[in-house]
Amino acid sequence: MPKDLADRRGVETEVYQPAEDSHLLAEAAAADMGEREAGEARRALEVGTGSGYVAEHVAAETGAEVVASDLNPHACRQARERSEHGVAVVQADLVSPFRDGAFDVVLFNPPYLPEDAAAARDDWMEVALTGGEDGRAVVDPFLDSVGRVLAPDGAVYLLVSSLTGVDEVVDRAAENGFSAVALRDESFPFETLTVLKLVR
Ligand SMILES: C[S@@+](CC[C@H](N)C(=O)[O-])C[C@H]1O[C@@H](n2cnc3c(N)ncnc32)[C@H](O)[C@@H]1O
Repeated sequence: MPKDLADRRGVETEVYQPAEDSHLLAEAAAADMGEREAGEARRALEVGTGSGYVAEHVAAETGAEVVASDLNPHACRQARERSEHGVAVVQADLVSPFRDGAFDVVLFNPPYLPEDAAAARDDWMEVALTGGEDGRAVVDPFLDSVGRVLAPDGAVYLLVSSLTGVDEVVDRAAENGFSAVALRDESFPFETLTVLKLVR
């Protein structure tokens, strides 16, 4: 198959498309960040941007300068194509390539489902959805490393699910010096989604 067509198929089948969790995070974070006057621009990073929807929403609604990153190259391509508000897209594992204190805001809608070993697949959608046995295999290293790239008075907006264990996430955040507030909740038949705001 021509590389271009293969890449295009990857974008269509292997990039997480905006869902209830994406909308909840985008709206709660943008509302909490509010709009600032020009000259007070904030720098925001969306980790695990997928289609780029959350990064684009935050850039459009708040005027923040937004960088979006993802491990998945198909996601990076799709996020780049979506960008209308100057969102820069970088392929990266969590926050590893970014410099210390670079961002006022970091957002993440992580892979949070506990893995069903019997149904596990070896593809990018698995990377988007599942976080190991307890659902926190990506959330925990994120919490352990995000403080490094955050400005001293910065904030993290993190989407979590009751399936991930909200108390365990809050405890891990506390071990890394963050206090957590639940900004918004939304309940579904099998889970409740919560947007946590973490500050130091
Ligand atoms: C639940 S999806 C969210 C996508 C998008 N932000 C949204 O809300 O619609 C999780 C995303 O995190 C990305 N991801 C998973 N592990 C990652 C890692 N270690 N570093 C960066 N991105 C990662 C996945 O590729 C996927 O795009």
